[in-house]
Amino acid sequence: MSINVDDYYAPATFQKMKAFADKQETPFVVIDTQIISKAYDDLSAGFEFAKIYYAVKANPAVEIIQLLKDKGSNFDIASIYELDKVMACGVSADRISYGNTIKKAKDIRYFYEKGVRMYSTDSEADLRNIAKAAPGSKVYVRILTEGSTSADWPLSRKFGCQTDMALDLLILAKQLGLDPYGISFHVGSQQRDIDVWDAAIAKVKVIFERLKEEDGIVLRMINMGGGFPANYIQRTNSLETYAEEIIRFLKDDFGDDLPEIILEPGRSLISNAGILVSEVVLVSRKSRTAVERWVFTDVGKFSGLIETMDEAIKFPIWTEKNGEMEEVVIAGPTCDSADIMYENYKYGLPLNLASGDRLYWLSTGAYTTSYSAVEFNGFPPLKAFYL
Ligand SMILES: Cc1ncc(COP(=O)(O)O)c(C=O)c1O
Repeated sequence: MSINVDDYYAPATFQKMKAFADKQETPFVVIDTQIISKAYDDLSAGFEFAKIYYAVKANPAVEIIQLLKDKGSNFDIASIYELDKVMACGVSADRISYGNTIKKAKDIRYFYEKGVRMYSTDSEADLRNIAKAAPGSKVYVRILTEGSTSADWPLSRKFGCQTDMALDLLILAKQLGLDPYGISFHVGSQQRDIDVWDAAIAKVKVIFERLKEEDGIVLRMINMGGGFPANYIQRTNSLETYAEEIIRFLKDDFGDDLPEIILEPGRSLISNAGILVSEVVLVSRKSRTAVERWVFTDVGKFSGLIETMDEAIKFPIWTEKNGEMEEVVIAGPTCDSADIMYENYKYGLPLNLASGDRLYWLSTGAYTTSYSAVEFNGFPPLKAFYL
C-alpha cells in the first residue's frame, strides 16, 4: 500500500511543510496553523449555531491557543495546568469550561477563584465537591453513549453515567444551589458511525423532557463533545456530511427551538495540520528467510505515537523512496517491547528503504506532542514547529 500525499494535503502546502522539514533534525512534528484555521472555519460553517470549545488536550501549544482565541473559540480544559496556560494567553474565564469529570476539590476551587463558572460532572461525589468549591456554578452531566466499536479511540466507559444517574445528579445539583445547565456526551474520538449521535441526542431529549415534566427543571444546553474525523488511512465521511446528519438528528428531536449547542473538537481541528517526520534507524529481518522486514524508526509509542496502541489510529506514512513494496513491522527506538506501532495491520514500505531515510507520518498534529514522554530511555520529548 502506498500513500498518495495529495489525498491529505494540497501540493503547495505539503511542499512548504516539507521544505521546512528538510532543514530540521528528526524526530519532530511540523504543524501548519493555516490548516487549523480552515478546519475551525469549516466546523463553524457546518454548525453555524454552535459554540466551539477547543479540547486543549489535543495539542496545548501556545501558537494554537492564540490562533483559536483570536478566532473566537472557547476552551475545554482538563486540568489546572491547562487552565493556567490558556489564561496566560489572555483567554477570559467566561470562555472556559472545566470538562474533566475527574477532579480534586482543590482544583475545582482553583478554577472557581480564576472565575470559571461551568463544570462537567458524572458522579455524586464530584457534584458535591463542585457545590462546595464552586457555588452557584453551571453544571452539565456527562452521559454514557454507544459507539465504542465504531470509534477508533473510544471514550465512553470511563466517563459518563447512565440516564437514571444523570437525572438524579441534575435534581441534586438544583438542591445544592447549582445551576443544572445541560447534558454532555462524547461518542468516542474518530467516530466513524454518524448514527451514534442520533442515539445520543435521543437520550438527551428523554432527560430534558423528564426533568421538565417531573421536576420543573429546564435544561438549556447540549455539549456534543468531539468525535469529528481526521484524515487517516481508513477514510470517513466528510465533515459536511457529519454536520448535515447531526443537525438533522437535533432537529428531529428538538425542532427549530434548539437549546445552546456546544462542540468540543480536538482531533478534527488539529490532526490534519501536522506531519511527524522521523528517520529510519535500522531495517532488519529476523531470519535469513523471513519475508517481513522490521523497520525501526527514531519515533515511537513513547515519543508521540501512543495512539498506535492496539493499532487504534492508523496514520498514513509516506516516504520519498518508491519502487517495489514489501510488508513491514514498524517499531520505535526504545528498549521496550511494547514500542511496536504496527505489526498486525500490514503497512507496505519500499524494499530499498534504508537507515537514514525519512518517514512522514501524515495527520499527526493532534495527540502526539501532548502524549510524548519526557525522558523515556533518555529520549527528549517530541519537538514541534508551528508554521
Ligand atoms: C471531554 C472531551 N471533550 C472533547 C474531546 C476531544 O475529542 P476529539 O479529539 O475526538 O475531538 C475529548 C477527548 O478526549 C474529551 O475528553
